[in-house]
Amino acid sequence: MSRLRSVLGLELPLLQAGMGGIAGPELCAAVSGAGAGGTLALYKEPPERVRELVRAVVASTSRPFGVNVIPEVAGPVLCRAQLSVALEELPGHAFVTSFGLPDAWVAHDVVRSGRALVIQVGTLHDAAAALRLGAGVLVLQGTEAGGHHLGELPAERLLYDVRARYPDAVLVVAGGVATGRDLVRVLARGADGAMAGTLFVPTVESAAHPHYKERVAEATADDTVVTTRFDIGWPRRPHRVLRNPVTGNDPRRPATFIATTLAGGRRLPVPRYSAAVPVAATVGRIEEMAMYCGRSCSRVTGQRPAAVVVEQFRRTYEAADPSRETTTEGGPWTSRSNR
Ligand SMILES: Cc1cc2nc3c(=O)[nH]c(=O)nc-3n(C[C@H](O)[C@H](O)[C@H](O)COP(=O)(O)O)c2cc1C
Repeated sequence: MSRLRSVLGLELPLLQAGMGGIAGPELCAAVSGAGAGGTLALYKEPPERVRELVRAVVASTSRPFGVNVIPEVAGPVLCRAQLSVALEELPGHAFVTSFGLPDAWVAHDVVRSGRALVIQVGTLHDAAAALRLGAGVLVLQGTEAGGHHLGELPAERLLYDVRARYPDAVLVVAGGVATGRDLVRVLARGADGAMAGTLFVPTVESAAHPHYKERVAEATADDTVVTTRFDIGWPRRPHRVLRNPVTGNDPRRPATFIATTLAGGRRLPVPRYSAAVPVAATVGRIEEMAMYCGRSCSRVTGQRPAAVVVEQFRRTYEAADPSRETTTEGGPWTSRSNR
């Protein structure tokens, strides 16, 4: 059995990225139910909503799933509060993913709870720090990835460096993976699995806005660009998004409100250049918002249920890799939705 699958208890060595506003309980449960690692995004959710969201996943699947935190966005107090509630509600086989290095006490809380800690990094330096924090799995993010960037190297280059330094670490590649063939490619280069975000944006269970889903499904890699434009609410990190009227070289315009959206259960105005992603409940100038999208979009097609996307991923993986080790026989987990 592959190391990622044995550490996290998955059928397929594929993790769905936590995606703030997009990866809610429906997407997470559907992906986990299909045998991959579904992940619930906690982003800036207040602790009382975290409890509700985690309970909704637990009610929908008994397979392993993850919760995702972004310490640099939530801040140390909210991040710890989110995890403290999540750890009360999560089953023992759940895991926690962190975008970037968490504070030592956050990492300690997770490790002490017995859940696997999965940390996403973009540099060799941060990979070393994540291992010191007790990460059981490292996600190595390359610049092909959609969303905010943690480093400046393409994924396979980072994988090469980290694998050379840490031959025994469990390594997952994020960025550039949307098919089973892509997975086979990164496994051949020394990875233990892959994480995909863009692949799941247009799925039926994703909470992304319909226009954004369509744009991702139709886009090719050259329709994406790395920019620092959408910095309100999440400054300093470059991010890969779909090109739109805001991502050109025009001088910056006033950050007037261009939409309203629902966040943490409340309707809020969205200024131009906001890091907020357009979700189903967003109303306004969707095309001018941050539509995060990775270069893998060239291999992502129209709206389908997440289970169908995972199943097709599994088929292309099995077809491309004769030494595959996935199993559909199931472990101790069964999908409640499939009963
Ligand atoms: C729409 C979108 C939102 C994202 N939001 C998050 C997030 O909330 N937390 C997180 O850890 N990573 C987030 N990411 C980054 C992913 O963890 C991962 O690095 C990326 O999806 C991998 O590249 P891919 O999108 O090309 O598959 C996001 C990515 C996308 C595309």
